[in-house]
Amino acid sequence: MCGIVGGTSNRNILPILIEGLRRLEYRGYDSAGVAYKTNGKISLVKNAGRVDDLAAKLNLKTNKSNIGIAHTRWATHGVPSEKNAHPHNSKNNIYVVHNGIIENHSALKEMLKKEGFKFSSQTDTEVIAHLIQLYTEKGKDLDSAVISTIAKLKGAYALGVLDKNNPDTLIGVRQQSPLVIGEGFEEKFIASDIMALSNITNKFKFMDDGQIAILEKDQITVTSSSGVAARLKTQEVDSNAYTNDLKGYSHFMEKEIFEQSDVIKDSLEGRLTKNESQEGIFGVGFEKEMKNISNIQIIACGTSFHAGRIFEFWSHKFLGINCRVDYGSEYQYQEPIKTDKTLLITISQSGETADTLSSLKFAKKSGDPVTLTICNVANSSLCRESDYALLTKAGPEIGVASTKAFVTQLACLNLLLLTLMRVHNKLPAARKKITAALKDLPKLINKTLKMTGEYKQVAKLLFKRNSALFLGRGLYFPIAREGALKLKEISYIHAEAYPGGELKHGPLALIDKNMPVIALAPDNEHLAKITSNIEEVAARKGKVITIGPLGRTKIDKNGGHIKIPKTLDLLNPIVSVVPLQLIAYYTAVFKGTDVDKPRNLAKSVTVE
Ligand code: G6P
Repeated sequence: MCGIVGGTSNRNILPILIEGLRRLEYRGYDSAGVAYKTNGKISLVKNAGRVDDLAAKLNLKTNKSNIGIAHTRWATHGVPSEKNAHPHNSKNNIYVVHNGIIENHSALKEMLKKEGFKFSSQTDTEVIAHLIQLYTEKGKDLDSAVISTIAKLKGAYALGVLDKNNPDTLIGVRQQSPLVIGEGFEEKFIASDIMALSNITNKFKFMDDGQIAILEKDQITVTSSSGVAARLKTQEVDSNAYTNDLKGYSHFMEKEIFEQSDVIKDSLEGRLTKNESQEGIFGVGFEKEMKNISNIQIIACGTSFHAGRIFEFWSHKFLGINCRVDYGSEYQYQEPIKTDKTLLITISQSGETADTLSSLKFAKKSGDPVTLTICNVANSSLCRESDYALLTKAGPEIGVASTKAFVTQLACLNLLLLTLMRVHNKLPAARKKITAALKDLPKLINKTLKMTGEYKQVAKLLFKRNSALFLGRGLYFPIAREGALKLKEISYIHAEAYPGGELKHGPLALIDKNMPVIALAPDNEHLAKITSNIEEVAARKGKVITIGPLGRTKIDKNGGHIKIPKTLDLLNPIVSVVPLQLIAYYTAVFKGTDVDKPRNLAKSVTVE
């Protein structure tokens, strides 16, 4: 949610900032801006709209600079507009870019107005620029003014600060919103994530909450929020993984869907033996701690929440351990109940989702759970806040609608299932079967990916509709929800998912010849009942498309069936989601929406 990039260098920084913004655009894309210094003067260029529009306005051919900050915005306070776009400035002296929310901005604004400051935007960010200016006017140097400012701020924020009177210094602040430092030879950068700078450097320092980084071309000074010096080690990352090359695909979402077979392989690599999960993959001490676990709590948002709901079924069936799944945004509203030893799992692609993160912190404060995160980003806040982490290894996911992260989350949750089954001595024969089926999964995903013709046929039935209904039962209900989520996110078609049994309790009223219904028809004990639900829809002239491992594939203008490869029932949801992703994708393509950057959404939701 909002992307920050800034840097100081001997070379011209502007093309680096613009490319950094392009790479961060998945975090927010309603407006963008840059402040850069040339010959002691700071220029500000802002734009409502995309980074490409900003680049055109900036005129990269003639403008040059060695130090600057830039921002791509996802609006929280104030409409997307040039005025509300960052950077914000105070008296053309202090320039600030901000990711996050300043909760006490109204009170600060009143105080600053009394001090004579004028506000020109509707944002919460502007108070930060004015506060820093106020403290410099009171005689503080820039570092101390920033320290005094953040002492006043309540909320989550990452900041980049530029000061006209400190021509060679750039300041970065991290407080519950991500910020990394990139290092090059006689050049230093800040950014919301590695992706922004991976074409520039592979050396990064990962800031902790409450830290301030003072960057000069050849030096980085990091302090705590009270000014005490801190040391951060430099880590080398594989920057090749952070490519923004479409590799011949039309969209990142399409590329990421078609990578799913490979990334599942990557996420299982070295983590399975012949018959089991490999010991120690969750870290030293995890399995010992798991012996005493009698309760599982999962916290996640969006697509990651759906992965959690599937694990809930696995946990009850194969472990006999009670598992509860809550949205990150809802978990804290339930009074915590004291239970026996709990394993608290957060699931997240980004590792930065504010609701999931704050619920994890809340859980740690109100109880004593063992915490594990299933996460796609090493060094993310969730990885750092958790006792244990298993990386999903999906590689960077750029399309806002999550796809490959989801299937790798399920693969990793399956590794967790196998590990807990082993630790709790459950069902050795089943463990062996699950292990074999898991190894086979990439092959089945590959087969499923090949049926693009059928998915396009279904998309043609959908793309002119206003609504669609998804049905599933048991562990296929979370998949139905994921299918509905994908469709609504990128095609803007209103889509809802219902458990098949709930059809008669309301949604049946919506069915007529204009309502397409997509039903998951598994080869398990629910098939007869879901078949009855499908009949109920067909009897009311709804167009039904079923997806499952039985029958024959046949689609016509009235709907039909897509046969997918069969595996163990517990793993078939992972195969079933692929057609739903591609149906949503082709529907959006036929509608002509901006698939990778759907309106109003952002990939990494770093505000609550
Ligand atoms: C946003 C993204 C979704 C994602 C959700 C949770 O809404 O657009 O694709 O599922 O956040 O994000 P996380 O990074 O925690 O998995």
